[in-house]
Amino acid sequence: MRVLICQDAETAALRTADQLCDQVQARPDCVLGLATGETMEPVYALLRTRIATRQLNLLQVTTFNLDEYVGLPKGHPESYRATMQRLLFDSAGLPEKQIHLPDGDAPDLVAAAANYEAAIRAAGGIDLQLLGIGENGHIGFNEPTSSLGSRTRVKTLTQSTRKANARFFSNNGEAPLFAITMGIATVLDARCCILLATGPKKAAAIAAAIEGPVSAVCPASALQLHPAATIILDPEAATELKLQSYYKTVHPSGGDALF
Ligand code: F6R
Repeated sequence: MRVLICQDAETAALRTADQLCDQVQARPDCVLGLATGETMEPVYALLRTRIATRQLNLLQVTTFNLDEYVGLPKGHPESYRATMQRLLFDSAGLPEKQIHLPDGDAPDLVAAAANYEAAIRAAGGIDLQLLGIGENGHIGFNEPTSSLGSRTRVKTLTQSTRKANARFFSNNGEAPLFAITMGIATVLDARCCILLATGPKKAAAIAAAIEGPVSAVCPASALQLHPAATIILDPEAATELKLQSYYKTVHPSGGDALF
């Protein structure tokens, strides 16, 4: 696990965007796993700028988002599909057939989940998976006690997640109770995972994920099992890490390892 503690949240987003751009440069037709949430917004803003200035071309990539709410009609402004269109897909000019999100509006959600897994396999698997983390340690919408062997399926959201996400809903009302999300095993299948966390609210979850036991109680701790996981942090998200000074020695200023 590479733990990069950057000088501030801006630098952490920059480092995340750089890693994604490096992946696309190495393989323009790569498969990207994408996340939504406030933490990712500065990353997508950087990508939009790079697309506008022709430093980045996403036209050949295939994307799979981690999750989608259940029961929001297609085109609902707070759906993750609409959010991703606004934040990235419209600027990237990505052809529709290369964009994938779980279908939270499907009449048969079990079949939709199985189809999503099949589509990821058919695309050759995910090269790089972007992740945020919930205050309760969730990745995607794999809430605490999600099986570490889980695959794409419907999950019931916890009250704390619904409360945290209520801010995205225009009436500041309720976030939906259910979501369809890649499972933890689905995430671990990605060839490379990058988790970005910023701000003090994420400090406890980050400490549990990196330095706690591998446990379904903290789904992000499953990344300890991944051979190529990078955790990118700002100082606030890193405050509860006991081995902070070690991580800073290995990756000075959150940069490349000395060795
Ligand atoms: C969303 C997702 C979630 C978020 C997490 C953090 O696609 O997968 O796991 O990454 O809830 O959200 P923010 O960044 O809003 O704190």
